[in-house]
Amino acid sequence: MIELRHITKIFHTNKGDIEACRDVNLTIRDGEIFGVIGYSGAGKSTLVRIINQLEKQTSGEVIIDDENISKLSADQLRQKRTKIGMIFQHFNLLWSRTVQKNIELPLEIAGVSKEQRQQKAKELIELVGLQGRENAYPSELSGGQKQRVGIARALANDPTILLCDEATSALDPDTTEQILELLMKINKQLGITIVMITHQMEVVQKICHRIAVMSEGQVVEEASVKNIFEHPIHDITKRFVRDLSSKVDDSQHNETLKKIYPNGILLRLTFDEDISRQPIVSKVMKQSDLDISIVSGNLTNTIDSSFGVLIVNVLGGHQKEYDEIIKVFEDYQVIVEVI
Ligand SMILES: Nc1ncnc2c1ncn2[C@@H]1O[C@H](COP(=O)(O)OP(=O)(O)OP(=O)(O)O)[C@@H](O)[C@H]1O
Ligand SMILES: [Mg+2]
Repeated sequence: MIELRHITKIFHTNKGDIEACRDVNLTIRDGEIFGVIGYSGAGKSTLVRIINQLEKQTSGEVIIDDENISKLSADQLRQKRTKIGMIFQHFNLLWSRTVQKNIELPLEIAGVSKEQRQQKAKELIELVGLQGRENAYPSELSGGQKQRVGIARALANDPTILLCDEATSALDPDTTEQILELLMKINKQLGITIVMITHQMEVVQKICHRIAVMSEGQVVEEASVKNIFEHPIHDITKRFVRDLSSKVDDSQHNETLKKIYPNGILLRLTFDEDISRQPIVSKVMKQSDLDISIVSGNLTNTIDSSFGVLIVNVLGGHQKEYDEIIKVFEDYQVIVEVI
C-alpha cells in the first residue's frame, strides 16, 4: 500500500516559489491500477517522483507497506527503489545497448550473475512480446516496441509497484491500446500495483480502478472510475469526462444539442450496470402520454463495470408533465440530468 500524507512540494526558482503539490493525501491499495489525471503543470510528475523519492517533498510523508520511506538512509532507499519500477513517455532507453542489454541493465547494477541476468531477460522479453528482437537497438524499434523494452526493464528486479508517467502519450491509439493491454496483463499476472499518470481520459477509462484528479498541485477529486464517469463533481473532472464523450460523439455537446432539438426537454439518462439491461424506456413510455425520441446513446466499459448514457428528447407536454416523467425515470434508479 502506498500512502501519501500531506505531501507538499515547493520548487524555489529565481522567478519565485512554485507549489507543485499542495497537501496531497492519497492511499493506493495493493494490486490496484490507480490513475492520476490532470492537465499540464498540475503536479502529476512531481507527485509520482515523490513516490520513489527521485524528488524529495518539502513536507509530508510517503509510506510504502507501512515503512516511512522519507526516513530511510541512502542505502536503504536504493534498496527500496529496486522494488519500484518506472516507465516514461520517452522510454529513457540506452541507445547504444540492444534490447536484451537494456533489460539486463538494472540487474547488472544489482550485481546479478550473467547467467541469471540472461535468464531473467529472456522471461521478460517473452512477457512483453519482444521475442526475436533481442539484439535490435532502440533506433530500430517502433514506439510501442520501445515502451515494451521500457516495461521489461522496469520489471527486471521484480518490483511490487510500477509507476507510469505518461507511458502512452507518445503512442498512436492502436499502440496505446496494446500497451494498456500489456499493463493490465502485468497487473493481473504479477499482482503489481500500477500508478498511471496521464492526461488521457481514455487511458483512465480503459484500465484504472480508481483515480485522483489533480489541478494546481491539489487532488480535487478521488473516486472509482465508474463514479467519476457517472457523477463527476469538480469542474476539471467534468471537463475530462466531457472531452472523452465528445470524442465518442461530437453532437453530445449540450449547446449544439439544444439548437438541434429546440422543442420539449432534453434529458441525459445514465443507466448503471444493474439497470442497463432492463426495458426502462419502454416502461416509462407506457406510463406517460409524452413522446420520447432517442437522440444518442452509448455504453462505456471500464475495467470492472459498464454503464450507459442515453440522451432523449421528450416532447408533447408542459413543465408539469416533464417533471413527472423525470420522477418516473428516477424511480427506476436512472440518473437524470436536464440538458
Ligand atoms: N525541477 C523543477 N524546478 C522548478 N519547477 C518545477 C520543477 N519540476 C516541476 N516544476 C513546476 O511544478 C509544476 C508541476 O509540474 P509537473 O511536471 O509535476 O506537472 P505535470 O502535471 O506532470 O505536467 P505535464 O502534464 O506537463 O507533464 C509546474 O508548474 C512546473 O513548472
Ligand atoms: Mg508530467
